[in-house]
Amino acid sequence: MSRPRILVTGGTGYIGSHACVCLIEAGFEPVIVDNLSNSSRIVTERVARITGFQPVLHETDLRDSEAIARLVREIRPAATLHFAGLKAVGESVSDPLRYYDNNVCGTVSLLQALDAGGCRVLVFSSSATVYGDPDTVPIPETAPVRPTNPYGQTKVIVEKLLLDLCAADPRWHVSILRYFNPVGAHESGLIGEAPRGTPNNLVPYIAQVAAGKRAHLSVFGDDWPTADGSGVRDYLHVMDLAEGHVAALRHALANPGPLTLNLGTGQGVSVKEMIRAYEAACGSQIPFRISPRRPGDIATCYADASRAREVLGWQPRRSLAAMCKDSWHWQSNNPDGYQ
Ligand code: NAD
Ligand code: WQD
Repeated sequence: MSRPRILVTGGTGYIGSHACVCLIEAGFEPVIVDNLSNSSRIVTERVARITGFQPVLHETDLRDSEAIARLVREIRPAATLHFAGLKAVGESVSDPLRYYDNNVCGTVSLLQALDAGGCRVLVFSSSATVYGDPDTVPIPETAPVRPTNPYGQTKVIVEKLLLDLCAADPRWHVSILRYFNPVGAHESGLIGEAPRGTPNNLVPYIAQVAAGKRAHLSVFGDDWPTADGSGVRDYLHVMDLAEGHVAALRHALANPGPLTLNLGTGQGVSVKEMIRAYEAACGSQIPFRISPRRPGDIATCYADASRAREVLGWQPRRSLAAMCKDSWHWQSNNPDGYQ
């Protein structure tokens, strides 16, 4: 029996690669389009080692409108999971043009190709960053959207574009997924997050300290209004997130119109709690120093995750201990990422 084809933009990236595994396991055929600006072609071989099926990779930039239109005509996907984008907050502040061009123009080019090809089912990677500094936690989907950096602004613009598209044309089926903090790796240790240069995010940084590649972690502030003074976030196992995409895909295939959902656990975890959990997973101490607060940071951010549970019947299953164990397994098996 033939598998329904799913176009996966950014499918060799961190979240996209895990989603490919779940798609294959759920009976779909992922077809990847990625310009490899932040990933490696080796990922497709790793996905094959896990699943027995190697996805085809088209090395193409989404902004190459003609190539994307040709690709859509050729593969005629039943749906698209749209992960491709740039995601470094600090870089988006110093180089906003690059972010608007890549994330907004890249999406417009993709949507034009999908529309022309009649392939109007899409799942979009948005982010909790759209909420900026929330008035209250947990954050429901109805909370005001007010991003504090150009990266977040690109997510808000694409969300609005998708809502406008659904309002204009009822043939579009769209899921907008606002992820909180994805961490961890596939339990095989074959795929995971491979940041280039110094990691921006907490868990990849801790992983490199645990591996001895960095001397210590800087904890960005211990005077936040939280129980232990360090920042609190909603960390979500990347495999739970990937499974959430399969649930959102099935929902989008069956239901027209837009749907916006938070994907998180609904649990806040502090930086200090994360350090302790990681120490338990890797069996050694994580040296850390208290540093000044990072510009633009907020104290606390976690999801009201009830809507995804109600609408998709999806909820995260993996614990904080599993997130750290799988991150460490990936890090220790692949000390230099995919190099
Ligand atoms: P990633 O950088 O690992 O993956 C993104 C992939 O997109 C990369 O493989 C990159 O090469 C590719 N890409 C970028 N621009 C492209 C373009 N113009 N054409 C073709 N390919 C392009 O990032 P990730 O962590 O897997 O994130 C995936 C998506 O989820 C992004 O849209 C990101 O903004 C969003 N997101 C990520 C997080 C997170 O913490 N990782 C949180 C919320 C939302
Ligand atoms: C988590 C906590 C830091 C590093 C970012 C983006 C967001 C989304 C997810 C894409 C905070 C603290 C961190 C370090 C530390 N990405 N920290 N030392 O800031 O919640 O969100 O990634 O959409 O848009 O902004 O995640 O992992 O950077 O930080 O103390 O070296 O860890 O202050 O409290 P964040 P993070």
